Amino acid sequence: MNKKYITTPIYYVNAKPHVGHAYTTLAADIYARFYRDLYGEGNIFFMTGTDEHGDKILEAANKEGEPVEQYVDKISNLFKDMWKDLNIKYNHFFRTTDPRHKKIVQEILQDLYNKEFIYKKIYEGYYCVGCEKYLNDREIVEGKCPVHSNRDLEYRSEENYFFKITDFTEEIEQKIKDREYNIVPEARFSEIISRVDAGIQDISISRNGAQWGIDIPWDNNHKVYVWFEALLNYYTATVFLSDKERFFPADIQFLAKDILWFHSFIQQATLLAMNKPLPKTILSHGFFTVNGCKMSKSIGNVIDPKDMINRYGVDATRYLLISSFAFGGDGDIKESDFDVKYKGELSDSLGNLVSRVAKLAEGFNNPHTIKNLKIDQDFQDKFISEFQSYRPDKALKIITNKINKLNLILADKEPWKLEKEEKKECILFFVSEILGLVKPISYFMPSVAEKILDTFNKSNISKPEPLFPRLNKK
Ligand code: MSP
Repeated sequence: MNKKYITTPIYYVNAKPHVGHAYTTLAADIYARFYRDLYGEGNIFFMTGTDEHGDKILEAANKEGEPVEQYVDKISNLFKDMWKDLNIKYNHFFRTTDPRHKKIVQEILQDLYNKEFIYKKIYEGYYCVGCEKYLNDREIVEGKCPVHSNRDLEYRSEENYFFKITDFTEEIEQKIKDREYNIVPEARFSEIISRVDAGIQDISISRNGAQWGIDIPWDNNHKVYVWFEALLNYYTATVFLSDKERFFPADIQFLAKDILWFHSFIQQATLLAMNKPLPKTILSHGFFTVNGCKMSKSIGNVIDPKDMINRYGVDATRYLLISSFAFGGDGDIKESDFDVKYKGELSDSLGNLVSRVAKLAEGFNNPHTIKNLKIDQDFQDKFISEFQSYRPDKALKIITNKINKLNLILADKEPWKLEKEEKKECILFFVSEILGLVKPISYFMPSVAEKILDTFNKSNISKPEPLFPRLNKK
């Protein structure tokens, strides 16, 4: 039976959602929409959510002067609102504070402890609260965490519980090399292999004296390390939600390279210890900067997707984000490009094509419907090939190239100058071609696709409202 279980990371609730979270969730949504089309609604389970425990979250709540429970509810709701605004169609929104998750995490831990995969030892080292992890010498740059260079590392010495991931090193390395699960793109696969070759150490899975988290079941002086429980979300949801068991393990896990190691090694060690199957594809996109700099509040270049939606509308925002840079690699999002791209790649191309053809087709009896189309096989094959190779930006380019080509043919043929029958035939050719674009467009811009259908999927076509209205002056 074909099914797809698609996941995003569960995002920390220490700050409101930004364009980085939106990018990953949007990519996952695009794929979930595609697979719903292919396998049917009921065979897709798309999950996103929030990661709500740990020092970093407690610190943020304290800073706001709010009880932590209230604070995590508030920020988690901001994520939900954001996904609603971006037309993200998920099946379940996961929260690590869900008591059903807590219970299963504790059962798993107790089981691993009984099986002696967990032991106690003293751990000393530099801890980055931003990453919620100890950093090794290789990861420290000029005495700081390169990802959170705005905060000092904390030297910590604590007695913690450790998980014997080293028991699984060889097995995991073999599975990665045999492609029993895929780490995509290839550069990330090699990165993980080199990291394994550099040597693995057991990881601490508890925090002594931590305040905000799930208790270690046999020792309530300790809380479960946030990463350990967070990675279990992909599993626990399929246990506590009804009828979702058959979806486990995940088919595609979307994330960025910052958390690749956790997803392609630690997660697997945990699942092997639990005797569970491993996720199929770990899909890492790159990290992007905004206007050439790392996104940061102090630089003032954090993009709030809401501002984009206010200016460009939901669908154009989805387009602008996903087309900003090549999916697998690092990139830069330039805000100054948005207006130009909106006009050139959306309103002057797809918007124009749709409005011109609809106007020309007014009054003709249109025989074409989405169900009886002559398929442009070459276009379809190219689109599917890029899409299924996890290059959504390139797949989108195949669509825009086709739109540009149709606009050129329209300008060249000048159907408005033709005689009656010939004119009708020519215009209806464009109607059919536009209808052929609806499905691929719908994964990226669902409402635009709906509007195109409303216009052309009927016998009497009339001119619609502009798909991409003129932008307001800045
Ligand atoms: N809570 C953990 C994930 C646990 S999953 C079991 C976490 N949360 S996070 O809020 O920091 O989200 C990290 C993810 O946000 C990245 O992996 C990526 O998906 C997305 N991004 C955040 N900033 C981004 C960029 N600047 N560029 C690309 N992706 C971005 O880590």
